[in-house]
Amino acid sequence: PFFMPPGVAFTNGHFTAENIITKVTHSGDLAGIFHDQTAWRAIPSETPIYQVEMLSSAQGEGELYVGTTHLNPGRVGDEFYMTRGHFHQRREQGEVYFGLRGSGLLLLQNEQGEARLEEVSPGSVHIIPGLTAHRLINTGTEVLSALAVWPSIAGHDYAALAQGFALRVVLHDGKIQAKEVQNG
Ligand code: 6PG
Ligand code: NI
Repeated sequence: PFFMPPGVAFTNGHFTAENIITKVTHSGDLAGIFHDQTAWRAIPSETPIYQVEMLSSAQGEGELYVGTTHLNPGRVGDEFYMTRGHFHQRREQGEVYFGLRGSGLLLLQNEQGEARLEEVSPGSVHIIPGLTAHRLINTGTEVLSALAVWPSIAGHDYAALAQGFALRVVLHDGKIQAKEVQNG
């Protein structure tokens, strides 16, 4: 007699629901994202880097989307696999990420170009304020999965980050290190 809502497995972020939308981003889709372009070209373009799995839900003012990003482990040269990263098209709209499995970093950057990193691990909660670009980075050896909730009207503005983020996360001397980069 009761409505059975969709489910999410907190161990891996996969949904159980009738309508799930998935989108895979491959290495070939990420032109210009990794700093070592020679290393990027050496990777087959069909290599899957991350997958976004979303519940199909209502769109419009006040509605929310729920989705999980599954980011594979790996590196392009010395730089860890990461999502493209974006500001929301509706710049003032925030988002919440929850770490579910794996380990990594959430790179946040404001409109002034100031960047910071938060550790993502199972159970971590990340409040992404409005006006803040965000990118997931997998610094571990297993898939990094993070559940996200965001306004359906938020949209994505990828072009605003054409010059990239102010920090890159690399493996240097066997250690995970954040390096400042010169933009523009
Ligand atoms: C969003 C979320 C999230 C994000 C994915 C892929 O606003 O939709 O932040 O679902 O889109 O993690 O990241 P990119 O959109 O930067 O490729
Ligand atoms: Ni977002």
